[in-house]
Amino acid sequence: MVAKGFDYASIGFYTFDCLGWPFTAVPPGGGCYFIDELTMAVSGAAGTAAIAAAKMGLKTLAVGGVGEDLMGTWVLERLKQFHVDTAMMQHQADWKTSSSIVTTRADGSRPALHMKGATGTFVVEPKHFADVANAKVVHLGGVGLMDAMDGAPNAALMKYVKEQGCITTVDVFAGSKDDLADVDAVLPYTDYFMPSIEEARALSGLHDLADCTKFFHDRGVTCCVFTLGEDGAFYSHAEGTHFKIPAFDITVKCTCGCGDAFDAGYAVAICKGLDPETSVRFAQATSALNASGLGSQAGVESFEHTWNFMKNTPIKR
Ligand SMILES: Nc1ncnc2c1ncn2[C@@H]1O[C@H](COP(=O)(O)OP(=O)(O)OP(=O)(O)O)[C@@H](O)[C@H]1O
Ligand SMILES: [Mg+2]
Repeated sequence: MVAKGFDYASIGFYTFDCLGWPFTAVPPGGGCYFIDELTMAVSGAAGTAAIAAAKMGLKTLAVGGVGEDLMGTWVLERLKQFHVDTAMMQHQADWKTSSSIVTTRADGSRPALHMKGATGTFVVEPKHFADVANAKVVHLGGVGLMDAMDGAPNAALMKYVKEQGCITTVDVFAGSKDDLADVDAVLPYTDYFMPSIEEARALSGLHDLADCTKFFHDRGVTCCVFTLGEDGAFYSHAEGTHFKIPAFDITVKCTCGCGDAFDAGYAVAICKGLDPETSVRFAQATSALNASGLGSQAGVESFEHTWNFMKNTPIKR
């Protein structure tokens, strides 16, 4: 097989988050409540994954879009701080950067106001497919939000990278069966499908874990890895292996980006050649570290740090 220039290409949803903690309520009228912490983060199923993966040592290529606004400039700057390659981040004056105001409650839950932006407008032209395929693992994060790429363009890209020998991972932003057509388009080219269980249920219209995984295996997915929030994660291989692993027993600060950090951890595990159980544990360790601080990837530091956390932290019983 041809050697790849990157370990990881992360395509899709890149967003700017401004987060405040702890959020209790919207002040009445034009009032003001004081909070203890406020920060910014690059987030999204591709953005969080790119930075978390880079922190853990993967040579990472970012593929997406931002506007020529303050948020977009900062997102690109922040990616570069972690040595993520931004050559395939499109940056256009007439676009707005996808951005969120995130209000994180003391229990870690995080209602948000989101402005859709360049995630829905950027396009990977077929002439650039080979650049994306120059990565061992290709991650498509944010199917359902990528208006210009969802459907046939994403299918063509993922088909191409599979043919070039890449390992593919897919995460979604999906709330109902209406998103199924966009997701369906890429499932035949998906090695690891990594939605939350809520998204898997919404897309399939099914409740039971085994029914949900069968639904996606029947559509071409080799391996389903569903995240179950505080209940952990569920792995199912099309050839029959399946298991559930509980989450780590942690004090949560902010769950923003937990699923996206899981995607990064799983990609690291693939690149390191870890077995499936250890891969799911390692991905959850990445999520748990993500949840320990305010904003996506806050607590993720390095491969060794995540590995030691995984080895030394108890799981929920
Ligand atoms: N309260 C929690 N306690 C411990 N671990 C958690 C908690 N919430 C999430 N996690 C960890 O994060 C992983 C992913 O979380 P979750 O299923 O909430 O992702 P998600 O809904 O896709 O999130 P995102 O919106 O960031 O994509 C879980 O598998 C679990 O390991
Ligand atoms: Mg998710």
